[in-house]
Amino acid sequence: MDDESGDVAAEIFGKPDPIFEQKSLVDVDHVPQPERIVGRDDEIRALSMQLRSAIDGGSPENVVIYGETGTGKSLVAKHVSKVAESMAEDVRIGTAYIDCSDDDTETQAVSHIARKLNNEDQTGVSVPEMGLSKSVYYTRLYSILDELYDVALIILDEADMQADDGLLMSLSRSRETGKTDCRVGVIAISNKVRWAENLNDRVKSSLQPRELNFHSYDANQLRSILEHRRDAFRGGVLEDGVIQLSAALAAQDHGDARQAIDILRNAGMLAQQQDSETVTEKHVRGARREAEKDRFHDLIGGLTIQKKTTLAAVTTLHKQTGRDEFPTGEIYTAYTNLCQVIGVEPRTERRVRDFVRNLAFLDVLDARKENQGRAGGITIYAGLQPAHDLEIVHEIAMTDDRFADVDDSETTVSK
Ligand SMILES: Nc1ncnc2c1ncn2[C@@H]1O[C@H](COP(=O)(O)OP(=O)(O)OP(=O)(O)O)[C@@H](O)[C@H]1O
Ligand SMILES: [Mg+2]
Repeated sequence: MDDESGDVAAEIFGKPDPIFEQKSLVDVDHVPQPERIVGRDDEIRALSMQLRSAIDGGSPENVVIYGETGTGKSLVAKHVSKVAESMAEDVRIGTAYIDCSDDDTETQAVSHIARKLNNEDQTGVSVPEMGLSKSVYYTRLYSILDELYDVALIILDEADMQADDGLLMSLSRSRETGKTDCRVGVIAISNKVRWAENLNDRVKSSLQPRELNFHSYDANQLRSILEHRRDAFRGGVLEDGVIQLSAALAAQDHGDARQAIDILRNAGMLAQQQDSETVTEKHVRGARREAEKDRFHDLIGGLTIQKKTTLAAVTTLHKQTGRDEFPTGEIYTAYTNLCQVIGVEPRTERRVRDFVRNLAFLDVLDARKENQGRAGGITIYAGLQPAHDLEIVHEIAMTDDRFADVDDSETTVSK
């Protein structure tokens, strides 16, 4: 390294961050302090009511929390159980949080719950991370519960990732079957709305869960969530309208708080990269665009060249005709034209129809069938899902090197 580049690094490290004051407040894994949790009072109230009797040593209800991604399910469940734990006076409440996407087998989950609740100095029970059988882990969990707690609140996040119903079955019947005197309340969280309906009848009847549905946030709620993280940035750095726009864009998509926070954070990063002294609405739009690109890149970046060409045929038709859907015959013509330009052997029309179905399955395209009357049979129409950004999908569909020389305004695909 020469001296000069050493100086550049030292210069950057030596100066305070011009944009962020406390960047961690908008980090992905940041857990906000209670006073920064806003817009979920009804849900916090509802969950607290279901757990209320635990404070007096009674049995908490079992609860299933549903809702789309980023609606505060994990946050609220952790927050409320923590408050319950800290407010109980004569009752010993223990809480354990596990994420079933990490602990997807029953044995792993029980082992993890037992470790979370254990205090080996007091119980003398050791819970190794692995190596014991499921039933031994259960026995240790029950003796920990008996030894240390009157009530245990067990949060199973992403509960639908558990391989089967065994864990729910055992936890919900643990007292009734005489395994422990501790009153166990389960809070199961899922973003699959039908998940609990499909549980086996015996589990349902012993769990008897109360259901709480977390709705997506509206723009106002997202706005106050972001306002409460404003101090991530230095004073005066956020231009007027930046928080409002970030909230509005996220509300337009899914009402996902994680996405809203991400947009604001990335807008700040973009401003930083561009050496801008303030974060502007333009940075917000740029950040949203980058996020959309990443999302589509994950979704379609790895598709085969055949499927990408099919998608590129649809997006090129959109761009060139301005229409919003096309019969698969027209898509096929565009596809074969594109194949010719990039030197890829075209597949049959039937295969391309399968590609279209697959892209619809991935929620990239919208496809619908139309009956063409007595003699005509069925025609499938497809187009990009209206919520998607045409330019972004088009750009990612055409990322393969083979598209490098294609001028999409000149290559006529529709004839
Ligand atoms: N009401 C809120 N106030 C402040 N921050 C919030 C609020 N709701 C969500 N957040 C923040 O948004 C992010 C997503 O929230 P959370 O993880 O609770 O969502 P989730 O519903 O569990 O989503 P998923 O289904 O994807 O697990 C977190 O960083 C969280 O801190
Ligand atoms: Mg969650």
